[in-house]
Amino acid sequence: MTKSKELDFIAIDMIARSIENIDNLGDHIHEFYPDFAEYGDMLQNIESTLKYLKGSIISWKYSPCDAGHGVKHVIMVMAISLWLGIKLKKKVDFEIDFRMLAVQAAFHDVSIADMGRENHERFSAIELLKDDFVFKRFDKEKLMIMVNSVISHRASKRTAKDNDVSSLSGWYSSVLSDADKDPTIDVYLERATYTAVCEHGFRGSEVVEHVFEHGVKKFGTNGYAGMCIFEEAYALSDEFREIVYDEPRFRERVEKYVTAYIGALESEERRQCAETVQAG
Ligand SMILES: [Fe+2]
Ligand SMILES: [Fe+2]
Repeated sequence: MTKSKELDFIAIDMIARSIENIDNLGDHIHEFYPDFAEYGDMLQNIESTLKYLKGSIISWKYSPCDAGHGVKHVIMVMAISLWLGIKLKKKVDFEIDFRMLAVQAAFHDVSIADMGRENHERFSAIELLKDDFVFKRFDKEKLMIMVNSVISHRASKRTAKDNDVSSLSGWYSSVLSDADKDPTIDVYLERATYTAVCEHGFRGSEVVEHVFEHGVKKFGTNGYAGMCIFEEAYALSDEFREIVYDEPRFRERVEKYVTAYIGALESEERRQCAETVQAG
């Protein structure tokens, strides 16, 4: 991994940890990572928005155990969105509202826990519009930009207009869509394996097939999510794409991960059964 990419991952991790441990927002960045002060300043500037989103939306509306679309995922999408905002700041001729990047990321999958995945982009956009805190702090134009970003966040459903980064709406929408793509192979394997086992109920070789085929379909050579819109986001994940393009190598990684995952799952199930037997 190149030095600059390593620094990017450190920055994203710092932002994610700041949101997770929302008190003293940005303080630890100023104290321990003075070279990243810009990130600490940005977090402190949007402190009240982040505190609301973490305390009232993320902690309540996203499942802590869902590795696919739960708390960990939404915090990662927020962190990458804010990181991208800093990276792209000098390239745009308008003022970036970092609160908007945080709000649209926090709401993008908000309806999944209650309503499931089908049409979740629309149900989640309605949740954003219904939120009083958000409604009182943004004008109609900003609200509609965030609503559009949530509606168009799914890579499989995007249009050319959504990817037009010269328009304000297209720019915000593209940041969210890029941030929602799995940045590393480890993130992809964790999320896809969880979905295959816990949502689809697959077992054994079915899990390997699903995780492998879904990865190729989504991120492979002609995959619908293979290309990021912003170069910065693409650079973040190009190592992952390189592995997916090399199908035998990708299959090997999938098999190794899934075998370990299922092994851990079975020993946990056995432990629970043993406990039930002992208690009975
Ligand atoms: Fe989504
Ligand atoms: Fe998502």
